[in-house]
This record gives sequence, structure tokens and C-alpha cells, in this order.
Amino acid sequence: MTPDRTQIAAAVQALAAGELVGMPTETVYGLAADATQPDAVRKIFRLKGRPSGHPLIVHLHAAEQLEQWATQIPQSAFDLAQAFWPGPLTVILQRHPQVCDEVTGGHPTIGLRIPAHPVAQALLAAFAQSHSGAVAAPSANRFGRVSPTQAQHLRQEFGDALPCVLDGGPCTVGIESTIVDLTGPAPTILRPGQIGAQEIAVVVGPLGAPRSSTAAPGTLSSHYAVRVPTYAKYSFKELGHLAAQRIGWIGRGPAPDASKHWELELLGDEPGAFAQGLYAALRRLEGKQVEAIYIEALPQSPAWRGVADRVARACAAHRE
Ligand code: TXA
Ligand code: MG
Repeated sequence: MTPDRTQIAAAVQALAAGELVGMPTETVYGLAADATQPDAVRKIFRLKGRPSGHPLIVHLHAAEQLEQWATQIPQSAFDLAQAFWPGPLTVILQRHPQVCDEVTGGHPTIGLRIPAHPVAQALLAAFAQSHSGAVAAPSANRFGRVSPTQAQHLRQEFGDALPCVLDGGPCTVGIESTIVDLTGPAPTILRPGQIGAQEIAVVVGPLGAPRSSTAAPGTLSSHYAVRVPTYAKYSFKELGHLAAQRIGWIGRGPAPDASKHWELELLGDEPGAFAQGLYAALRRLEGKQVEAIYIEALPQSPAWRGVADRVARACAAHRE
């Protein structure tokens, strides 16, 4: 049920009034606030339980807005915008002096992207007509939890604390945007995603070695988890000794001789489809109260990099 004009108008009103809006994007759902209202942005941190100082991504309506949010913009940013926006790519640039500290966590840089989801585009277009047309939006999950990819995930997580949620259906990408830092000597990937390093290098030339950045909380290993112990890099056969337990299995499929105690999530052999289904599968298995979740070993090819990164994080939370 795509939101109609009335629902979009209500969401614009909520943003203008300094309230939060659950916004679908093609990657994951975001928790959006008017990026020009510090008080509204602070509400994001309160609702998520996210430590302040963690920078947010600002979602824009059009690439022409870049100059209002960033300075010293390198040509590579315009080239990436041309190649991948609207789409699942975030660029890190030097922030414009007018950007409030709440958005950037006080950092001198800012993350910017134009989402491709038609509902996000409709919301940003309508918000641009009367207001800033820019919303700060982290993934709409409580801090440390797996990102939401369906509107019902937001309702389950926030309930009445977030009255305005636009339902844009299941997210098509399913994992968060690729983040490219353009503030150093060479473009560097801070977070892998659907758009791969190779595709980015075609546009901007050779990439710098990945840096560990304290400014990127999404790079904490304990992010993106559910409450059930989660383990990766298994084959179905290896788990035979657990036949009597209630475990969840996330695999590419098909799964041979499934035990009746096991809950199976078979996401397919294609990295895009696996990414799209991963977070919802983790949440479903959590809801079924399995004792543990095992995730099948994934191919090592570049196309699986983003998914493998999120699987590793979902598991890391239970090792710490
Ligand atoms: O796909 C996405 O990017 C989703 C949707 C809603 O757009 N958003 C998202 O936001 O994943 P969040 O807040 O959950 O993750 C944002 C990531 C964090 O890892 C943060 O550190 C990084 O972006 N980030 C934002 N601004 C940054 C900056 N100035 N420098 C370095 N990293 C930054
Ligand atoms: Mg997040």
C-alpha cells in the first residue's frame, strides 16, 4: 500500500513540526528528521538510544543541494552522484559551516546521499517545496540492532513512540548503503554495500586502502545483531549433531533433510536476493525464539562482500 498524497503531506507536516518520520529507502528504513532543526535531530538519538557524536547521513532531494551541505567538493563527488544517484551510495565530504553539530556529531565531515525509493523521493520532493528538502536519517533501529527492511519492523521496535511511519513495502536492497569517504587523498570505502568497490573505482579511479575510522560507528563490529546467538560460515551438514535443538538456519538453499526442530530461511544463491532477505530472516528467527542462528558460509567473491560484512557483524555482537 504505497502512501498516498495525504500521507506524504502528513509526513511533511510532521518533519516541519520537528517530529520524526519512519521513511522507506531502497536500502533499509530510515528514522528521518528535518536536518536543519537541531532539536528534531536530537530526537533521533533519544528514540534510537544512539550515543550522540555518531554522525548521521543527510538524505537530499537533488544533487544541486550538495553545495548547501558540503564544501570543497571534489569532482569525484559529482561523478559518483552522476553515476549512482539516486541510489544506495553515501559520500563523505567536508561539511558546510551552516550544518548543525547534531547532524555530524561535531565531526568536520558529512555523509550525503539521494535515496532511490519512490516514497523517499516523493517525501523529499514535497519537503523541498516548503522546507529544506533534507532529512537526517540513520537506519530506524534501536542502537546496535539489525536495521529494519519492512514497515512492520518499525512498528514492532518503536510502537506509539513513532506515530508517523510511511509504508513503502519491503526494501529492495536490504543492506545499508555503500559509504565512500572523499575527504582523504584517495576515495576510500568505509562500509561495503550493494555498489561494489570495482564499480566505484571505474568512476573515481584507484581506491585508498580501507581505513579504520572512529567517525564511523556503523563500523563497530557489534552492530546489526538480533538477540539470539548467531554464528556464520557453516554448512548444513556440519550441524547434524544439533538435530534435537530448535535452531534457525539462514542459507542459500536448498537445505537437504531438514530436521523438524529447525526453522529454515532459504534466501537463494544470488547476493542481491540474499541481502534483501537477510535482516528480515534474522528478525523472523528471533521472533520464533530459536536457541541459535547459523548462517551458511558465503562465496568470497566481491559481489558477496556487503552481505558477508553484515553477517560478520550480526555474529560479532555475540562474541564480545
Ligand atoms: O542505507 C543507508 O545508508 C541507511 C538509509 C536509511 O539511508 N542509513 C544508515 O544510517 O545506514 P546509519 O546512521 O545507520 O549509518 C550511517 C553510517 C554510520 O556508519 C556513520 O558512521 C557513517 O554512516 N557516517 C555518517 N556520517 C559520517 C561521517 N561524516 N564520517 C564518517 N562516517 C559517517
Ligand atoms: Mg544503522
